[in-house]
Amino acid sequence: MLIVHSIAELRAALAGRGRPAFVPTMGNLHDGHLSLVRRARECGGPTVASIFVNRLQFLPHEDFDSYPRTWDADRARLEAAGCDILFAPREADLYPEPQTFKVHPDPRLADLLEGEFRPGFFTGVCTVVMKLFSAVFGTTGGGTAVFGKKDYQQLMVIHRMVEQFALPIDVVAGDTCRADDGLALSSRNGYLASGERSQAAELPRALRALADAALSRPLADWPALEQAACEALRAQGWQPDYLVVRQRSDLQPASDSRAGTLVALGAARIGSTRLIDNLEF
Ligand code: PAF
Repeated sequence: MLIVHSIAELRAALAGRGRPAFVPTMGNLHDGHLSLVRRARECGGPTVASIFVNRLQFLPHEDFDSYPRTWDADRARLEAAGCDILFAPREADLYPEPQTFKVHPDPRLADLLEGEFRPGFFTGVCTVVMKLFSAVFGTTGGGTAVFGKKDYQQLMVIHRMVEQFALPIDVVAGDTCRADDGLALSSRNGYLASGERSQAAELPRALRALADAALSRPLADWPALEQAACEALRAQGWQPDYLVVRQRSDLQPASDSRAGTLVALGAARIGSTRLIDNLEF
């Protein structure tokens, strides 16, 4: 696996090698990330993974400084997964000057759910992803980018950005990887104390229960079901931000209750760790 830091080195490494398949990450890699790398390898071109902890997507009180940086383990895991190129830009490679031009996503998609609780988050994500796309695909005539469904709203926002800017990139969605008890794998699971870890699978269970309840009740009852789902988690010691059922097409409240078109999404804090998850149904 070749390791490159600058955009120029990356482009030189990709020259003449066809359309890359790209997995952007912030490091602290787990099996979920590696499944995205395996998905990228199926595309046939060179596989590129990036590791960059993007300060633009962290709010001032969030964990940018303490975000786990696990370079040696990440590099070994990517190499073992068959990644061809690891792009690990330094701060000065991506942001040589303050990033004053930003990508502001459509507020109808980006100001709800995660965007409501983490204002500016998706602007930070879109800005860095646009820059990473420029680095990886700028000289290759496009390619494929693989994002996990675990960050469901992020995947949708990026998908819409690629469509609306007519970027020559196929966005591919990778399934969420889960632990045996159902907890979605996430870099932030490492923050959970052991008692919290054993409770953490209550979030996916709450989403399953909410989805089942929604399918058995009329649309008009859904806001009450969502509220009850939050209350039930709160009673178990969580601080929920939201547990909702939305239509998959635009993440708005559902206008009909057809199974196969819906997604339950949740975000909640257990102790000081904020977890997010979702369930398509
Ligand atoms: O999902 C992530 O890890 C990040 O939001 C991403 C896409 C790498 C952008 O920093």
